[in-house]
Amino acid sequence: DMGGHDTYMHKEISEQADAVDRVLRGRIDDRFSTVHLGGLNLDAREARGVRRVKILGCGTSYHAGLIGAQLIEELARIPADAEPASEFRYRNPVVDPDTLYVAVSQSGETYDVLAAVQELKRKGARVLGVVNVVGSAIARETDGGVYVHAGPEVCVVSTKCFTNTVVSFALLALHLGRIRDLSVADGKRIIEGLRKLPAQISEILATEDDIAKLAQEYAGAGSMMFIGRVRGYPVALEASLKLKEISYIHAEAYPASELKHGPLALIEPALPTVAIVPDDELLEKNRAALEEIKARSGPILAVAHAPQEKADHTIVVPKNETELDSILMGIPLQLLAYHTALALGRDIDKPRNLAKSVTVE
Ligand code: F6R
Repeated sequence: DMGGHDTYMHKEISEQADAVDRVLRGRIDDRFSTVHLGGLNLDAREARGVRRVKILGCGTSYHAGLIGAQLIEELARIPADAEPASEFRYRNPVVDPDTLYVAVSQSGETYDVLAAVQELKRKGARVLGVVNVVGSAIARETDGGVYVHAGPEVCVVSTKCFTNTVVSFALLALHLGRIRDLSVADGKRIIEGLRKLPAQISEILATEDDIAKLAQEYAGAGSMMFIGRVRGYPVALEASLKLKEISYIHAEAYPASELKHGPLALIEPALPTVAIVPDDELLEKNRAALEEIKARSGPILAVAHAPQEKADHTIVVPKNETELDSILMGIPLQLLAYHTALALGRDIDKPRNLAKSVTVE
């Protein structure tokens, strides 16, 4: 049942304020400015002993893991990184007893992720899951974890589950942070930020008509470039994946800082760039990248907290706490991909060559 929407993708994009509300519900502990994650199965002493966090997932879940790693480093100050599960399991990885492994999967059935979990378990590692589907294979094989509570996702491409997975990582990072060195004041600040998310998501979704008009403008592009820096880079990766999956427009994502090391050669009037420009400590650096692109007559669409002078268009999103900004910046780009694919007459819920859950190698 699409509940009045033309596609499941549109329905699922539209459900994100409720979905985020659900992942937060019952988990916030105001007394200690932290969160309770009932199924984590990692006590405080164990959490303090974690020396590294390694996050494993595929596709969109891998991108959510990249943001998760940044959140864990920022809030809990534990070195963390994410890697495609498919790469990890084929490279005879060093499995370290002081590393906490986290497997991320919407379906909980992706074979490459499951196989990585099984290999890690066999070698005695502690593996948590960040999973949407309750009771799925990955949920069963992990030692504990966080359910993402996005509700059923039917469209082949992931949207609301991506957002809820990132929020789940923010909860995990806050929890680990408050057991370690994150202050009460910072815990409180992050909790206030999390509480603002559902209303801010609704604000973004209310601008859909404007985004649809922009999509008309970009639907003719043969290729698109997505750039971001640090918190903005995984957002660029995910937006680029979404666009190629459903519109079949070729897209690339690069850290803005890498432009001058090669991809700047591609910039010309026929290649639009979507730039993620949060109002954070890297704002001036990002603006300099926009100038570089403008100097080569590249069209620019910015996603930012205020209109950007060098951009042809800016999608303005509401500001949250700096650590949480990336959660919101991807949402208008889901709509951009959606309306671009719609303008091109694509089969949005069932893009060619793709399956919802990849249970083979
Ligand atoms: C992209 C998409 C895929 C999945 C990937 C992992 O829109 O949906 O990239 O994210 O196949 O699937 P899960 O999260 O079910 O393990």
